[in-house]
Amino acid sequence: MFTIAVTDNYEQASSEAFRIMRAVLDKEHPVLGLATGSSPIGLYKKMIADHNSRGTSYKDCVTFNLDEYIGLPKNHDQSYYTFMHENLFDHLDIPEENIHIPAGDADDEEEECVRYEQLLKQYTLDIQVLGIGSDGHIGFNEPGASFDSVTHITALAEQTIKDNARFFEGKTDRVPAKAITMGLASIMRARKILLIAVGANKADAIYNMIKGPLSTDCPASILQNHEDVTVILDKEAASRLG
Ligand code: F6R
Repeated sequence: MFTIAVTDNYEQASSEAFRIMRAVLDKEHPVLGLATGSSPIGLYKKMIADHNSRGTSYKDCVTFNLDEYIGLPKNHDQSYYTFMHENLFDHLDIPEENIHIPAGDADDEEEECVRYEQLLKQYTLDIQVLGIGSDGHIGFNEPGASFDSVTHITALAEQTIKDNARFFEGKTDRVPAKAITMGLASIMRARKILLIAVGANKADAIYNMIKGPLSTDCPASILQNHEDVTVILDKEAASRLG
């Protein structure tokens, strides 16, 4: 079931996202599923501000990230490991051992997928933060990804490589071709989904996710089967919902 909030701008969208996150953080041992990309940055800024002003502690918090590029060392400036530390973890009191991100630099990537999924299965995510790709991907589950998928290796779709080139000096050939991602079935196990999308380039994906058929052509449409999905949009991303 979708609860949809259409906000005026990104700042408002981030405040609304934080309001939902805040309720989860009140739990004793919160387990957070986190995303990278531009969409959750405002939420992460608010989590940091709240930690600084109100002292909300993350000492008992466990996190799992959705995905990581294959082939980038952890300390690469575009690895999701670096992104998460720079944009969130380095500013909180979360113990490093409570942070889980797939190792995109593992010697055996298949084995890493199995390890990550097994670890993830030992927990239940209280919330999974998601962005959405302009092609409807969530995590790096690109169009055609199986609804039954768990953590796996995936090739990035051409559209995703184009979209993400902005983080690699605009050069598509610098964007890693593959990633490790939680699967759609892994994501669906979360108790609550919080999806943030802003901008006109997300309007088609949002429409297909909510109003389109349940189809692997739009991987995010699987969320139609989840009982607790909050979708936070700006007017542009919501423009096709009518
Ligand atoms: C990131 C992720 C991706 C992004 C999506 C949207 O960990 O899994 O699915 O959420 O590509 O990216 P932005 O927010 O940069 O538009």
